[in-house]
Amino acid sequence: MSGRLSGRIAVVTGAANGIGRGCAEVFTAEGATVIGVDRAGTERTCDLLDEASVGALFADIAAEHGRIDVLVNAAAFAHFAWIEDMTYAQWQQTLRGELDIVFLATCAAWASMQASGTASIINFASANAAHALPGSSALAHCAGKGGVLAMTRQLAMEGAPHGIRANTISPGFIRTAATRAHLAADPAFTTQVLAKNMLKRLGEPEDVAWCAVWLASGEARYVTGADIAVDAGATAW
Ligand SMILES: NC(=O)c1ccc[n+]([C@@H]2O[C@H](COP(=O)([O-])OP(=O)(O)OC[C@H]3O[C@@H](n4cnc5c(N)ncnc54)[C@H](O)[C@@H]3O)[C@@H](O)[C@H]2O)c1
Repeated sequence: MSGRLSGRIAVVTGAANGIGRGCAEVFTAEGATVIGVDRAGTERTCDLLDEASVGALFADIAAEHGRIDVLVNAAAFAHFAWIEDMTYAQWQQTLRGELDIVFLATCAAWASMQASGTASIINFASANAAHALPGSSALAHCAGKGGVLAMTRQLAMEGAPHGIRANTISPGFIRTAATRAHLAADPAFTTQVLAKNMLKRLGEPEDVAWCAVWLASGEARYVTGADIAVDAGATAW
């Protein structure tokens, strides 16, 4: 099957790297018109934590395309540190980089998504939203992703009367720029991650992108307020 997203206008944040990039590539291959956004290295550049810049970006997109059918909020930033070492500034930067970043883009895109009539918001929670992973100093990240999970359920409720679905994908450990440093810093961490992984391989961005294709398409028309684990079974045992 191909062309599953033909005619769909999709904004993908964080499209310069990792999961966002994987989504942008697979969405394009499936026929979507993709507007990739990141700080650099994408068609549109924007600091997605600057409210005025985000407003201007989505006003431009609305003027050019008239509607947004899919919003993939993959841009994110987090500090990882044990509680003894984490500063309040790092905590706040993580919540801004995981929660505010989703709020600002979603707010700015909302009217254009209403104009779609069949819109889909795809946010990223994490296995960390449900489980504490031994060896992972993910305190602020767990708080941020728990917030994304709860916020997305609310978006689903508020969006339903406007034809907007909203769901989260909770990836397990995916090889991206964000996780490369963790793997390099501690080779034993890979062993620990794989011990919980039923398929015994780390994930690639494309593994997550195929789930996003489904959520973005009409195939998932009855799916909203859901959280889908794409984690090789890591949270299933
Ligand atoms: N990689 C994993 O193992 C994993 C696991 C669970 C959840 N997730 C989540 O999936 C999503 C994507 O993760 P990833 O690993 O691909 O991340 P990544 O770090 O590889 O890419 C994130 C992108 O977001 C961009 N970005 C960050 N802040 C920005 C800002 N203020 N303005 C514009 N762009 C900004 C970065 O430049 C980068 O290109 C995130 O929400 C992440 O928390 C990832």
